[in-house]
Amino acid sequence: MFYRRILRPLLFLQDPETAHERTLELLARIHGIALRTVRPFSSPRLSLQVAGLQFPNPVGLAAGCDKNGKAIAVWPYFGFGFVEIGTVTVRPQSGNPRPRLFRVPEHGALINCLGFNSEGSEAVARRLAWLRRQKRPLPVPLGINLGKNRQVTGYDETLEDYRTGFRRLARFADFVVLNVSSPNTPGLRQWQERERLDVLLEMLCAEANALANRHGSRPVPIFVKISPDMTEPDVQDVAEVAVQRQIAGIIATNTTLERPEALVGVPRTGGLSGRPLRDRATAVVRLLYRLTRGQLPIIGVGGISTPEDAYARLQAGASLVQLYTALVYEGPCLPRHINQGLLRLMDRDGVQHLSEIIGVHA
Ligand SMILES: Cc1cc2nc3c(=O)[nH]c(=O)nc-3n(C[C@H](O)[C@H](O)[C@H](O)COP(=O)(O)O)c2cc1C
Repeated sequence: MFYRRILRPLLFLQDPETAHERTLELLARIHGIALRTVRPFSSPRLSLQVAGLQFPNPVGLAAGCDKNGKAIAVWPYFGFGFVEIGTVTVRPQSGNPRPRLFRVPEHGALINCLGFNSEGSEAVARRLAWLRRQKRPLPVPLGINLGKNRQVTGYDETLEDYRTGFRRLARFADFVVLNVSSPNTPGLRQWQERERLDVLLEMLCAEANALANRHGSRPVPIFVKISPDMTEPDVQDVAEVAVQRQIAGIIATNTTLERPEALVGVPRTGGLSGRPLRDRATAVVRLLYRLTRGQLPIIGVGGISTPEDAYARLQAGASLVQLYTALVYEGPCLPRHINQGLLRLMDRDGVQHLSEIIGVHA
């Protein structure tokens, strides 16, 4: 209520990206305190093991909100059960010219064509090394989302770029996300195609194994994040490659280039997120669940803003969910509200543990 009545109107007086940057700067200042005191929202009925990791609840922060990992420990405070930072590029880059982030409040949506503005892998690695030195382990799993620099365009060059990003950052991550689905980096989405994806995953799985051997640990789980704009055969290709390469799972979905008819007068370029993406993202989760017969963990993201949305995404086959856009419209209490709502919906349906509902409506 406080957010919707007071804070949001103040934030919405500012240009969307400025509002975001200022909020993040503020959160970054309380990061140290958060790290010392944070306890995750956890309930035995909501906690899950996915890809060998323990999640205190299934609601995560999606990539793009904390691209450079400036406020990592603050997100569990809001009730998030895991955090994905990034996309991080190997070298720093400023992204596309501003303005490049637009609100569509009537539809609970955002459109962005940020184009991977990133401080780069070295700066993020330094920040994560600092976090590690604090000797206060984050109470929730941390994912790091990797992308490629814009000026990297060749085939071999792109593979090398992902390898470098992985080598710099994977050791700080509980899981790594391979972003091949952002619509704002020319040529990126072609890495979702069967052959290219297979080569990329083969390389990164080898890197993960080498890293694990050096540290005597298990290989860091790798997820691939896909677009909602793929045809069914394309999704099938991704699912088959993911299963064959035995990666940890798939994150579905990134933003869409489609513009539903109801959205008139909005920018045509850039990725659309939020409510208009919800049904399409759910459909992709359902398709993936069917194609993989529930064998491969799916993280469902896109347009989730209520406990009912999250519940439906899990029923469609997601093991975990994430959100970003709804946080802008509903405020920091949203993850906690969704978790509490999930418990309420489980009570209504006589469900003891969340795992019982995964894929029941696939
Ligand atoms: C402003 C903005 C920036 C984003 N940046 C990234 C990014 O860097 N990497 C990525 O994988 N996804 C990025 N996303 C996509 C989100 O992670 C998510 O997949 C998408 O927005 C759908 O979820 P939502 O409707 O809950 O926002 C971004 C989304 C927004 C709105």
